[in-house]
Amino acid sequence: MNLTLFVWRQKDKDSQGKLEEYKAHDISPDMSFLEMLDVVNERLIKEGKEPIAFDHDCREGICGMCSQVINGIPHGHQEKTTVCQLHMRHFEDGDTIYIEPFRAKAFPIIKDLVVDRSALDRIIQAGGYISVHTGGVPDSNAILIPKPDADLAMDAAECIGCGACVAACPNGSAMLFTSAKVTHLAMLPQGRVEAARRVCLMTEQMLKEGFGNCSNHYECQAACPKGIKVSFIAKLNREFIKAQFKNK
Ligand code: FES
Repeated sequence: MNLTLFVWRQKDKDSQGKLEEYKAHDISPDMSFLEMLDVVNERLIKEGKEPIAFDHDCREGICGMCSQVINGIPHGHQEKTTVCQLHMRHFEDGDTIYIEPFRAKAFPIIKDLVVDRSALDRIIQAGGYISVHTGGVPDSNAILIPKPDADLAMDAAECIGCGACVAACPNGSAMLFTSAKVTHLAMLPQGRVEAARRVCLMTEQMLKEGFGNCSNHYECQAACPKGIKVSFIAKLNREFIKAQFKNK
């Protein structure tokens, strides 16, 4: 496959960036999107030019590092797929592809396609954990958890914290991310103990970081590579209201 790429190049967080054109030749349809960028970078390095900076770690769809907007869509047009799991066979020979970083006020661009998503880490640090002493490992059936609750907790725990929800939202809201993290702990008995404190602290941190509010565009759900549903945002709101009563 031969492709024309327009890639966002930006020297550092203070410089002004712009889209630059690159040709990608002899790309195998079986390559992943990141492997295609590797090929482009190898050529740039051979030519003595600066390679395109982009984030990645696992390349298996589990770490959430590959934060790119492809043709205007975070993680590209393939549903429930991270950039690293997106294969070139989903594009046509001769295509023109626009590649930009995740864009949000809370995600400053560090270089080219790399953004600083540590704001999400700080939301987790504010309360996305269990700190109660649970003792040694109990027998597997000692704490009975209804199957629907366990399933919902696992669905929420699928969030890989990539930030596509923020990049897709016109308000730059992190409510889908925060709601998934709040829900996966709130659904389990071990997480209930600190549920009220957790939802207040995490929501407060989310607002401090400059993320916007949810106004029901549902773009976050459409962009999420793990299929996290907006119903978790309703759960977050319920948890928050319950916590307000508890605090009073
Ligand atoms: S590199 Fe880990 S999810 Fe894409």
